[in-house]
Amino acid sequence: MRSISLSDRAIRAEPRLEDGFGRRFSYLRLSLTDRCNFRCTYCLPNGFRKQPGLAPELSRDELVRATRAFAELGLWKVRLTGGEPTIRTDFADIVRDVARLPGIRRIAMTTNGYRLREQAGRWREVGVAAVNISIDTLDARAFARITGHDRLGEVVGGVDAALDAGFDAVKVNSVLTKEPDQQSWNRILAFVAERDVCWRFIELMRTNDNAAYQAARRIPGETIRDRLEAEGWRSLERLEGSGPAVDYAHPDYRGRIGLIAPYASGFCETCNRLRLSSRGKLHLCLFGSEGLDLRDLLQSDGQQGELVARIRAAMPGKTRGHRLHDGDSGATPHLASIGG
Ligand code: 5AD
Ligand code: SF4
Repeated sequence: MRSISLSDRAIRAEPRLEDGFGRRFSYLRLSLTDRCNFRCTYCLPNGFRKQPGLAPELSRDELVRATRAFAELGLWKVRLTGGEPTIRTDFADIVRDVARLPGIRRIAMTTNGYRLREQAGRWREVGVAAVNISIDTLDARAFARITGHDRLGEVVGGVDAALDAGFDAVKVNSVLTKEPDQQSWNRILAFVAERDVCWRFIELMRTNDNAAYQAARRIPGETIRDRLEAEGWRSLERLEGSGPAVDYAHPDYRGRIGLIAPYASGFCETCNRLRLSSRGKLHLCLFGSEGLDLRDLLQSDGQQGELVARIRAAMPGKTRGHRLHDGDSGATPHLASIGG
């Protein structure tokens, strides 16, 4: 008979984490920081500002304890995000620690790419399996305008470095706004033609800080969907347990193009993720309430049981879906605050 490891036992002792709508959770988005060195127009247009009185970021030990508890509850995929997670000098150490936790099968990261060209190989080595890079346009001037940094070349170099480093998935997050000019579409097609990447357009979401910008600059996802379909792209079947993106393929292209449309109906039905903010709050939804503080239970390894119980008890509070349609973006000032 196969011996059962401690972690297996922990996972079997109680049913998997489930909310009041029968949704199960496999995916933890772990924000390492809400600091960012970029100033994306829709996110941190004035750059990151330290707010007085804000609790400190979770330490590496606190992050690892939290992740261990979520893993015990059956979450097996972790995305390290931010802000810009690689601003943390202990980023690679955190990856290494998380990769060793029982139950964690996959680590992904989201980055603005500013250190990717130099660090891709190292991050792959310490245990990152997949990387998402934010690039809203391939027009260098528009990129500089949106992010506040004239670094498109470096970031694209980072995508190529990630492809060379052998990650099993390299994706681009590209927020749909009226900023990038039209010619950018052809550049995106050329980019995807020769690279094994998935270029994912994301509908611009309203947050508490960007309401006016969002109302003025939002482009609905259907614009992209219609264009893809007219140009011979075919949607791929969604895999069970996969995220909310619909991906498209075309025989002439190595890469794929995807669409994440949080305003589309049914978006929340397959929600499989929980979020932990860099200040130690559990968020059941990107656009939910203030979050449930877990920090007091992250202070020693001996608190794991209590921590698991607190997370479990929070689950019935998860709502069926966000209320973005009603112009309600919950308590989220910008996505850098809880990790996108
Ligand atoms: N709407 C949609 N996407 C956003 N992101 C940040 N803010 C928003 C928003 N308001 C994206 C970033 C990054 C990812 C984590 O979320 O560009 O790629
Ligand atoms: Fe930074 Fe990402 Fe926000 Fe841009 S979208 S400011 S890269 S956290």
